[in-house]
Amino acid sequence: MTMVERNVNSFKLISKKPLFFFFSMTSIMFLMSWLFVFRSTSRPHFIYHNLLPNSKLFSKPEDSKFHTKIPNVESSFGNRAILVDNEDGEDGEDESETKNSNDGGKCSNRNDDFLLKVFMYDLPSEFHFGLLNWKPSGNSVWPNVRTTIPGYPGGLNLQHSIEFWLTLDILASEIPNAPKAKTVIRVRNSSEADIIFVPFFSSLSYNRNSKPTPNEKKTRNMILQEKLVKYLTSQEEWKRSKGKDHLIIAHHPNSMLDARMKLWPATFILSDFGRYPSSIANVEKDVIAPYKHLIPSYVNDNSNFDSRTTLLYFQGAIYRKDGGYVRQELYYSLKNEKDVHFSFGSIQKDGIKKATEGMRSSKFCLNIAGDTPSSNRLFDAIASHCVPVIISDAIELPFEDVLDYSEFCIFVRTIDAVEENYLINFIRSIGKEEWTKMWNKLKEVEHFFEFNFPSKEGDAVQMIWQAVSHKVPPLKLKLNRFRRYSRSPPSIEKELKIPLPKNFW
Ligand SMILES: *[C@@H]1O[C@H](CO)[C@@H](O)[C@H](O)[C@H]1NC(C)=O
Repeated sequence: MTMVERNVNSFKLISKKPLFFFFSMTSIMFLMSWLFVFRSTSRPHFIYHNLLPNSKLFSKPEDSKFHTKIPNVESSFGNRAILVDNEDGEDGEDESETKNSNDGGKCSNRNDDFLLKVFMYDLPSEFHFGLLNWKPSGNSVWPNVRTTIPGYPGGLNLQHSIEFWLTLDILASEIPNAPKAKTVIRVRNSSEADIIFVPFFSSLSYNRNSKPTPNEKKTRNMILQEKLVKYLTSQEEWKRSKGKDHLIIAHHPNSMLDARMKLWPATFILSDFGRYPSSIANVEKDVIAPYKHLIPSYVNDNSNFDSRTTLLYFQGAIYRKDGGYVRQELYYSLKNEKDVHFSFGSIQKDGIKKATEGMRSSKFCLNIAGDTPSSNRLFDAIASHCVPVIISDAIELPFEDVLDYSEFCIFVRTIDAVEENYLINFIRSIGKEEWTKMWNKLKEVEHFFEFNFPSKEGDAVQMIWQAVSHKVPPLKLKLNRFRRYSRSPPSIEKELKIPLPKNFW
């Protein structure tokens, strides 16, 4: 008889009924108490912090001269569908990631509750709100966002206005006693920051100042970028980390063309990686932010599969390069389909109204790679609840770590899309039920793509901060490794030349 069998037998001996009952009950209660302890100690995902009272904290700008209205301040999505994808119970780790690792269990101060602690350079206003013709008064280079919000120019400029919304959100975090979402807070001591924010409105600088003037060799945009590089590289914060813990916004694909080669150790906020070498920008280091949609949100959308009479909608430019080929092929294969709208020409001012009507009365909206893999068309489609059909193999999608785009978008490989009738047959095969599911999902996720001031739970502003916060732990790892020998006396040349592993820092 082996040990095990003997034990089993002795167990049998004592398992008379009352004893057995007692034993089972105590085991169950023990298990339940453990479950209880476990549940109460596992911390909720950070986003629940954001379900705290929302902010009606700012009065609207009093100065009615502002030429841009702050869009969407009124629209409300309540608390529905906040990160549904994250409720599957496998989080728990995110919280520790987002906490500042150097707190070491100290008594918590006010700042510890925030997802991301940001140090922002007091760059001269010519780099940011000065580009909006705002003039500083007094000592501050910043507007008082409680009373004054300089307007951002409308039209196509707005699609890259990410820099504006993020900077406003940082400034707003300092308003005392305002109930705020616990995503970002500005800290004045850069040693306490998770990330160092560079408040350069690079997209606006590109849009406004990249036309060459007759007598100047360099555009104003180029000069500003040069100044920025000079400013940054002379800062203690930059020298400390060689820029690795810096955050720079370059949402317009052509913004920062000059400076990016010198500032690449920083984390960039981009629309895609289309015009970047992968050593300068990549999915590990950088953050993809949505475009701000130009087509207004479709509130009270009572449409349905049948009332949206256009099957497939596309409005865009033809480009000679790469994407243009696909667009032309598709045009020839789709132009005779009665329920397909396919026309060329980019949406300009009055075109927005037409595109709004077009997208709102279509079941599917095409997104074909153009001269860059991304465009605001995708976000216009989402705002119109028109199921996006994405033909762009190199597209990068914002917040894809928490969003499963296949639930509300159709993806078609370019190689398939140019195959005769592939696309139209595929789209026609999607029935009412399947489409309605995707349409419903679009309405659930649309708030992730809204830029608000003040920012709201689960809107684009806060989602971008969340995405940035995910970059912080690997960044700290790099920095700490980088500092290993910081106390050692300078080493001899030979030792310094030992090649480091690729991507070491
Ligand atoms: C900034 O923070 C660091 C680390 O917490 C601290 O050692 C330092 O004294 C602070 N500096 C100032 C000026 O408060």
